[in-house]
Amino acid sequence: MLVRRARREDYPVFAAIEAEHPGYPAWGVNGFEAEENNRNSVTLAAECDGRVAGFINFWMLRPQVQLNTLAVGRAFLRRGAATALIGKLAEYAAKSLCREIDLEVNEHNAAAIALYSARGFVAVGRRPKFYDDKDDAVLMRKTLPGKDI
Ligand SMILES: CC(C)(COP(=O)(O)OP(=O)(O)OC[C@H]1O[C@@H](n2cnc3c(N)ncnc32)[C@H](O)[C@@H]1OP(=O)(O)O)[C@@H](O)C(=O)NCCC(=O)NCCS
Repeated sequence: MLVRRARREDYPVFAAIEAEHPGYPAWGVNGFEAEENNRNSVTLAAECDGRVAGFINFWMLRPQVQLNTLAVGRAFLRRGAATALIGKLAEYAAKSLCREIDLEVNEHNAAAIALYSARGFVAVGRRPKFYDDKDDAVLMRKTLPGKDI
């Protein structure tokens, strides 16, 4: 699994991956394009056998990193793409001396909660009825070891 910076031509593939997960908050091509104007924003693509398998976007808000969106195409699930993307995020965080990675996840998204828990994230709070005024968001955080900034 190769992880690299996203390119403009990836955005339609990212949008197609989003569409494979009904109910997942989709950014669409425009959303990914808009991130190019945010200097804190990083979008990465995971590639498997030359095909885009998934993506991640996060904001570097030192000393925090905010994970905004992450999804993997159905054909590539359970092959380590999300793990590779989060691993690369952690590399960015460590290089920038960030202290924590924050994210929110739908309380019913068992796959994502299992993924994050396996990567050392812990639940630190909840936002009631955050998704469509229905499902709670679980706030998860990973604290990183680091030198004093
Ligand atoms: C959640 C998601 C990103 C996981 O992607 P993935 O590439 O399949 O994940 P990985 O292969 O790296 O899985 C790593 C670990 O996460 C956990 N995990 C992943 N999918 C799981 C599932 N469906 N059920 C239970 N645990 C799961 C497992 O512990 C897994 O390790 P294992 O395969 O050795 O058991 C993917 O299911 C997805 O795109 N879902 C829709 C979008 C989404 O919900 N994104 C998260 C937003 S907060």
